[in-house]
Amino acid sequence: MAASSSAAPVLLRILSASVSVVNRAGRIIKDVMRKGDLGIIDKGIDDLQTEADRSVQHCIVTSLSRQFPKISIIGEEELDSEGKVLDEWIVTSLDSDVLAKKCPENLASIPEEKVVVWVDPLDGTSEYTQGLLDHVTVLVGIAVNGKAIGGVIHQPYYNYQVEKDVYKQGRTLWGMNGIGVFGIEKKAPCEGKRIITTTRSHSNKNVNLTIDAMKPDEVLRVGGAGHKVLLLIEGRAHAYVFASKGCKKWDTCAPEALLHILGGKLTDMHGNSLEYHKDIQYLNSGGVLATYDAAVHEWYRERVPEEVKKTLPP
Ligand SMILES: *[C@@H]1O[C@H](CO)[C@@H](O)[C@H](O)[C@H]1NC(C)=O
Repeated sequence: MAASSSAAPVLLRILSASVSVVNRAGRIIKDVMRKGDLGIIDKGIDDLQTEADRSVQHCIVTSLSRQFPKISIIGEEELDSEGKVLDEWIVTSLDSDVLAKKCPENLASIPEEKVVVWVDPLDGTSEYTQGLLDHVTVLVGIAVNGKAIGGVIHQPYYNYQVEKDVYKQGRTLWGMNGIGVFGIEKKAPCEGKRIITTTRSHSNKNVNLTIDAMKPDEVLRVGGAGHKVLLLIEGRAHAYVFASKGCKKWDTCAPEALLHILGGKLTDMHGNSLEYHKDIQYLNSGGVLATYDAAVHEWYRERVPEEVKKTLPP
């Protein structure tokens, strides 16, 4: 394995390392959150979230940067270099399923220094506290030349309603342009009904106005950008509509990459594609509009009210 793995193109190795490290990240989240559930520590749930966020980001950033010192990694948490990084958080193994894939030619020659990795250590945590465990995801997005081209979504509590052992819950989806998406099966949403998913905790007048203009039969208010895109991929919603600022590049990079590979489309509310250069502003100031199928995206975009668009500079 060693010979072939070092010969693999660097993008494939970065994806492979990301798949390995998110599983470790998921275990850190479960360890930290369990302390709260078991009442072992006295801190509030916000402190637990912060501890999990920071530990997971240290785990992912340190693991990837040790192996790929020239990539740019941008994460949600501001970490000081003094921060505690436990040796047991460092994962440098490569996932062999990923390495077994053939990297498409146009990506095979991309050098390490051109790669930007966007990390959200813990997306959708405010829902965790309300028992909506599968809203939580760990997101590692990979961008080249400003475009999201691959990534990993780890859902640590997937299947929690059925599997009682927390350490057996969870799933990992990964994909790259020209290779495909693995770890999930795409399903088409039901016809004859329009289901929109949107924010659960950041609703406002414009968010509601925009959804009303699309006349949905059902609105799923859920947490996490990663989780909302999973609803699109699994056919549980037709569109993800968030006509507000607040969502960041690390929330959208991995979900966008996987959704696009599967034939969907994610843009801002104006229909502009999102950019992921390392020096870009982190905020998706134009909001987020995503559909399960690229062909229906225009229908939703046309219905975004002009007055709302004015508040969301592209
Ligand atoms: C948006 O709509 C939801 C669901 O009807 C409602 O609970 C919420 O208060 C609304 N928010 C605003 C700011 O109008």
